[in-house]
Amino acid sequence: MGTASSAVPVVLRILTADDTDAFIRIRALALRTDPEAFEGRPDSDPSLDPAFVRGRLEAPSLRGKGVVLGAITRQLVGILGLSPEEMESQRQLRLWGFYVVPSMRRQRVGRALLNTALDLVRQTAEFSRLRLRVHASSQAAIALYRSAGFGPVQPDRIVEGSQEFGLDVGPGEGRS
Ligand SMILES: CC(C)(COP(=O)(O)OP(=O)(O)OC[C@H]1O[C@@H](n2cnc3c(N)ncnc32)[C@H](O)[C@@H]1OP(=O)(O)O)[C@@H](O)C(=O)NCCC(=O)NCCS
Repeated sequence: MGTASSAVPVVLRILTADDTDAFIRIRALALRTDPEAFEGRPDSDPSLDPAFVRGRLEAPSLRGKGVVLGAITRQLVGILGLSPEEMESQRQLRLWGFYVVPSMRRQRVGRALLNTALDLVRQTAEFSRLRLRVHASSQAAIALYRSAGFGPVQPDRIVEGSQEFGLDVGPGEGRS
């Protein structure tokens, strides 16, 4: 599906049910290294439950249960989830779980995951907007989202310390 221009070769692809264990390992790491960036907690996060994760990763499709993109060296080093949601009768996608392992940061893996996600969304051409919630302390993520054209939008629910960002991805909206 793509590559990232880091020192180590990185392959980008959509994860499937075979990636369940690797996904759970990296998600558990994410909740340990960057707890403030994610709403999930190690004792209750459904994304650590093998049956839930397997169900989510099988038959990946933006029109169905959504997709999780993975960045892979010899192991999974980055993830980014996209899930469809209906809001005010518009079809939107929610970006969630965006994470790059600390040892691979600042090598453009995150940007490659985000650009691949945007390409995928635009190819599907069914969604008007991409939304996400980001904690104010996630300065790297905020800088990356802003540089990809995201800006603050009205939140659908208030989460203390977090901001909602959106990007219009409907027909005619180019990457900035
Ligand atoms: C956000 C995250 C995924 C970025 O991954 P990454 O692979 O390090 O990002 P990249 O190397 O592709 O950097 C892309 C851009 O992000 C910004 N950025 C990345 N790290 C940054 C940092 N430490 N400080 C400021 N800006 C930073 C820069 O704008 C950078 O562009 P540049 O290289 O042209 O300066 C990673 O930092 C991470 O996992 N953070 C913890 C989890 C998190 O906050 N997730 C977001 C939840 S909403």
